[in-house]
Amino acid sequence: MVDFGAQYAQLIARRVREAKVYSEVVPHTATVAEIAERKPRAVVLSGGPSSVYAEGAPSLDPALFDLGVPVFGICYGFQAMADALGGTVTHTGTREYGRTDLRVEGGLLHEGLPRTQPVWMSHGDAVTAAPEGFEVTATSEGAPVAAFENRARRLAGVQYHPEVLHSPHGQQVLSRFLHEIAGIPSEWTAANIADGLIEQVREQVGDGKAICGLSGGVDSAVAAALVQRAIGDRLTCVFVDHGLMREGERAQVEQDFVAATGAALVTVDAADTFLSALAGVSDPETKRKIIGREFIRSFEGAVTDVLGARAAHGETVDFLVQGTLYPDVVESGGGTGTANIKSHHNVGGLPEDLQFTLVEPLRLLFKDEVRAVGRELGLPEEIVGRQPFPGPGLGIRIIGEVTRERLNILRQADSIAREELTAAGLDGQIWQCPVVLLADVRSVGVQGDGRTYGHPVVLRPVSSEDAMTADWTRLPYETLERISTRITNEVPDVNRVVLDVTSKPPGTIEWE
Ligand code: XMP
Repeated sequence: MVDFGAQYAQLIARRVREAKVYSEVVPHTATVAEIAERKPRAVVLSGGPSSVYAEGAPSLDPALFDLGVPVFGICYGFQAMADALGGTVTHTGTREYGRTDLRVEGGLLHEGLPRTQPVWMSHGDAVTAAPEGFEVTATSEGAPVAAFENRARRLAGVQYHPEVLHSPHGQQVLSRFLHEIAGIPSEWTAANIADGLIEQVREQVGDGKAICGLSGGVDSAVAAALVQRAIGDRLTCVFVDHGLMREGERAQVEQDFVAATGAALVTVDAADTFLSALAGVSDPETKRKIIGREFIRSFEGAVTDVLGARAAHGETVDFLVQGTLYPDVVESGGGTGTANIKSHHNVGGLPEDLQFTLVEPLRLLFKDEVRAVGRELGLPEEIVGRQPFPGPGLGIRIIGEVTRERLNILRQADSIAREELTAAGLDGQIWQCPVVLLADVRSVGVQGDGRTYGHPVVLRPVSSEDAMTADWTRLPYETLERISTRITNEVPDVNRVVLDVTSKPPGTIEWE
């Protein structure tokens, strides 16, 4: 996938993988030689923000088409492709943006699909004449050539965005290109991914030994499970219990994860240390920094203990396993200078002065693939299907000072909310649902015959594809009612439940 600066670049790469074909993103500055070196079975050219005629517009080297590799152009990539192959791209001056009707005229890409179908458009210029040898297979109001294909050369493209859900047949069109025009088999499956990764870890680690920090989250659990399969008990897992976990999470790691994988686990009981360090602190950034710092200290301490025990037997530990995912890799390599909205302490992350070789078995995977691999490895659904949970844990869901008592209150409320959402079958719709304790706010209530003066908790259910943007989930009133009634009845000190109806942006998902 050549990224011309598309808003949807990673999404396209993900959609390709959903069609069971492995994909990687390269920047548009990659040369044709560099692209060829990766031996792609096909190349997808992404959309981009610019007009092909704009000054400094990313260019497409026509030599790409001499490789004989199938190419699929999307939006800007479609226009760049038309331009490079001798078609005409016209500066029409009109913009076609949003949901648009596509009229299918023929061709393999849209065969069997509705003759008129909605697609998502976002372009100014338009292709007005297809390159020689290409069949025009669809048109729209603002795009005389909205799709074209040349099956003999295995080249095709569409003006619209097949990767977004607003183009309901987009995924079928992309699959058609990959499987039928480019002739790529569906081989990117969870079982194949897992086998390949286990083999790679074996090769990398050889006879060596490795350590992995478990956070209780999906990524570190799946990374550890893969490495465990590859090198068995030469892997030691370290779990720092900072006391900011949710109800039942420590047991999930200590019992369910260990039972499913047979991994060797060392738990560090660090709740007291974290709580003393957090005493009297209510500023969110300071809390995050303290939690990050204490985490690294505890993790280092545990690693030193493990190393010490190993050293006594004349052994060394050379590898540190991390659950880095592909979006982090693309983002850190992209260098787009995105603003640091919050300091994200990667709890489970790498202490800076420890010298290890990194093992990152998930660095080419997206989250849904990580989950699929986790299931393949037999990890329990409670771990694999778990909602994202921030490294600093409940520490950033208590607005105000973090104390043991407040943690207990929040843990109970959170546990009720999770239980009811699961019981209502809503987990699939929800990306995550932080429950937030407004610990410094009190309001008056009445319960039984008495007046109460308790805290509010906020429910923050959100739907999202990647946490970069999110919308508040429209939960059924009955579910909200059950959660509210149970929390106010069962959790002492909470006498009010409120619902956060803010999208992201402008609100972030977490409250701190
Ligand atoms: P925000 O609040 O920035 O959250 O909209 C986006 C996603 O990131 C999670 N999050 C974190 N994850 N360490 C993490 O590992 C952190 O410090 C952290 N802060 C937020 C959040 O739960 C959401 O999924």
